[in-house]
Amino acid sequence: MKTFLLSMVTGIIFTVFLQTPMVSAEDGAQLFIKLTCNSCHGDQGKGMIRTEDKAKYSLKKKAMYKKLVKEGMPSGIVKKLRPLYRKKFRDEDKYLNAIKELIGENNTNQYKEIIIKISGRVYYRKGELIPGFEEYPRHAGNKKLYLFAQMKDILEGRRTNGNSEAMRGIKPFLASNKVTDEDFRSIAEYLSNVQD
Ligand code: HEC
Repeated sequence: MKTFLLSMVTGIIFTVFLQTPMVSAEDGAQLFIKLTCNSCHGDQGKGMIRTEDKAKYSLKKKAMYKKLVKEGMPSGIVKKLRPLYRKKFRDEDKYLNAIKELIGENNTNQYKEIIIKISGRVYYRKGELIPGFEEYPRHAGNKKLYLFAQMKDILEGRRTNGNSEAMRGIKPFLASNKVTDEDFRSIAEYLSNVQD
């Protein structure tokens, strides 16, 4: 009986413990997303950078085959690329693999640059800044106190320039979420701990 009671009590304590929200740096991470900070400062405050490549590879015109020859590929090898006519690839590796199947690995490596130059179109690469967000600061790894002070200065109108106005646009949203200084501190704590 004693053991039974004991296990019940332990069970109850355990359940209560699990249901109590734990205050930790984790909350800063959640707030950063909930309060849409990431929409201007990027994932984990790392800045507004592209998280993946955007590119397209396609031999979409017959003239492109002629161009390959002009750039120095033997026409016999170029002809073997015919099955790729108008096929579209988003991923460079997949595209090159399809080419390898047609002309072999050595030829692919030898003429890779020419093929990509004629048939590839790169819109942006992973890690590049998104145009228009060049002046939007990244926070990851900055000092907690500095970050907290800047948030307050911007939101309370002590730091003013053309760009800080953009951030003040979310003031009504922050007010409706009843954001406290404690919340800003935990966001600052979280950002200061983000590793690159
Ligand atoms: C609409 C876009 C936008 C949103 C949303 C936004 N910010 Fe900003 N934030 C900016 C801009 C732009 C600046 C640069 C202001 C300047 O140049 O004075 C800035 C600056 C800052 C700075 C100062 C950084 C430094 O190095 O000086 C901090 C800290 C900051 N923001 C935190 C936040 C947090 C936390 C949130 C979410 C509660 C947030 N921001 C939401 C646009 C935004």
